[in-house]
Amino acid sequence: MREYSIAVIEGDGIGPEIVREAVSVLEAAGKKYGFHLNLTPVLLGGASIDRYGVPLTQETIEIAKKSDAVLMGSIGGDAKTSPWYRLEPSRRPEAGLLGIRKALGLFANLRPAWLYDELKGACPLKEEAADRGFDLLIMRELTGGLYFGKRETVEKDGVLVATDTLTYSEPEIRRIAVKAFEVAGKRRKKVTLVDKANVLDSSRLWRKVTAEVAEKYPDVSLENMLVDNCAMQLVRDPSQFDVVLTENMFGDILSDEASMITGSIGMLPSASLNETSFGLYEPSHGSAPDIAGKDIANPLATILSAAMMLRYSLSEDEAADAVENAVRKVLKDGYRTGDIYTEGTRKVGTARMGSLVAERV
Ligand code: NAD
Ligand code: IPM
Ligand code: MN
Repeated sequence: MREYSIAVIEGDGIGPEIVREAVSVLEAAGKKYGFHLNLTPVLLGGASIDRYGVPLTQETIEIAKKSDAVLMGSIGGDAKTSPWYRLEPSRRPEAGLLGIRKALGLFANLRPAWLYDELKGACPLKEEAADRGFDLLIMRELTGGLYFGKRETVEKDGVLVATDTLTYSEPEIRRIAVKAFEVAGKRRKKVTLVDKANVLDSSRLWRKVTAEVAEKYPDVSLENMLVDNCAMQLVRDPSQFDVVLTENMFGDILSDEASMITGSIGMLPSASLNETSFGLYEPSHGSAPDIAGKDIANPLATILSAAMMLRYSLSEDEAADAVENAVRKVLKDGYRTGDIYTEGTRKVGTARMGSLVAERV
């Protein structure tokens, strides 16, 4: 039997509820397709702060590095009420997430967004745009830019001045541009580079390097688009996009926007990859503290992230297809969590949604 080692980060808020369902779906896939997963739970974010006082430990990094892949819920809490946000920023849950992305070299964040026919009713786009449908992939740079630049807050002449810096080097841009063209070559052969090149030097460097990379992929077309326009085009006609290549923060913002046009933020999976087959798989959404512990969170983004793990890190393509088809079947059969519920469908909770998918794998 094929064996894989998976580090599992349940995370905070709804994390444990959605990861539990993804794990049961993976186990169903293993039974059917003849592989076994050895799961090692590790802590990150708020749960790690509660246990060790820090959001990321060396132990978590080491176990993740020894694994074939990492499956993760989401981390973080409510900034107004959680004691984690009384700590200095470098010790808060989000610092743990950025830390593990950097430590594992996960520079490429793939966030695919497509509209299931069954969810057209839950899609907020105009009817003609929803009817056209869409199938796009945001290729977000994940270990550079504003998230990792020098930042400081100082007092100058009695006023506070805060600074964040946005830096990208040629190699950082080139490696993710290559990834984008490789992926686009297996899709609809179009890359849209999204930036703010009318203002930012870093964006102008992205354009230069990406144009150079594009020359090596003559069958893939390259289009440039400014980020403000892209935000608008995503709700006007998302069918125009195939692979959207962009820097860290633009990708963060655009991927939440892309999630909502699929029907809900609870639908959007993600894979964070380095140069090897190793990856960290997590939903694009957060820990949703407002609905944690209520059995109402949508587990499908996490389940679809697990399918990405089967495909990209474990090369279990058949099992990945089976999980994705099972999700489609559950939607076809009319089951919905509250976030994607529309009249005439059947409302179910987190755990039930997970079992419905597992049964259909
Ligand atoms: P969020 O994505 O957690 O929630 C935004 C809204 O979407 C909320 O109303 C929430 O209830 C809803 N929602 C999110 N996921 C859902 C799901 N699966 N099913 C149904 N509804 C869902 O964003 P936020 O409220 O801005 O952030 C909450 C915390 O999560 C913060 O601490 C933030 O830093 C953290 N966060 C973590 C990650 C991550 O771990 N990758 C990503 C984003 C935010
Ligand atoms: C995401 C999240 C994180 C990010 C936060 C929690 C640091 O929003 O994964 O999209 O901005 O990358
Ligand atoms: Mn985000």
